[in-house]
Amino acid sequence: SLKDESGLLPSLRIVQEPRGLDLIRKATAATGQGHLAAMKAVRPGMTEGELKAIMETAFRAAGGTGLSYDSIVGTGRNAASLHYTHGGGVIGANDLILIDAAASVGGYASDITRTFPASGTFTPRQRADYDLVLAAQAAAVAKLKAGDYYEDLQEAAKDVFRKVGRIDDFYHGLGHFVGLDVHDPGDYMKPLPAGSVITMEPGLYVQSQNYGIRIEDLYLVTATGNERLSEGIPRTVAEIEAAMAR
Ligand code: GLY
Ligand code: MN
Ligand code: MN
Repeated sequence: SLKDESGLLPSLRIVQEPRGLDLIRKATAATGQGHLAAMKAVRPGMTEGELKAIMETAFRAAGGTGLSYDSIVGTGRNAASLHYTHGGGVIGANDLILIDAAASVGGYASDITRTFPASGTFTPRQRADYDLVLAAQAAAVAKLKAGDYYEDLQEAAKDVFRKVGRIDDFYHGLGHFVGLDVHDPGDYMKPLPAGSVITMEPGLYVQSQNYGIRIEDLYLVTATGNERLSEGIPRTVAEIEAAMAR
């Protein structure tokens, strides 16, 4: 007799084996080099596509063997389109640029988003919104450990936006499992298992004011907490401005 056990697959894939985790770490390290190269190379007047080419070249130079998904490089208003991949936009001097892109290694994915100012310096208003997104991510990550529920993390991030009346500007899920696929299978209704790898990616998007901000990092869930696999990729305002100044 035949029995459909396809439901087993998500539960088997959700916990990464050492080899898979090693490849995710390598993919994330190469991804970081690409994001850093983009931050350093960007100049107003460049097209999104030119910046994307610089970044993807850096992915390969750092050991990336492929792309985890089509790279998103959106400047200004384009950053508020969640799946924007056009590439023809010209980077304006006062724009924020959102890059959601990742190298893959050996078939394993990563998934990182960084948002940075074309000028190298955030305006006070850009900084305030950026720090709000970072606070939402921090609120979720503070709860991220094995046994916790995805929904509770998502509510923790949403609460940060709700408190300042900005919940309508965040309109996608907080995160997802990553593995062989960028959106890897897994049951979001069950407690998170140790050894799973998940993104935390809150954002704020305001098309009428021509900007989108997302901060996306990759975390290994552990018994006592979590490990940020994307550690070292400039993320705070101070880290990004310092990286761009060099
Ligand atoms: N890059 C796809 C995602 O963040 O889900
Ligand atoms: Mn993601
Ligand atoms: Mn992403």
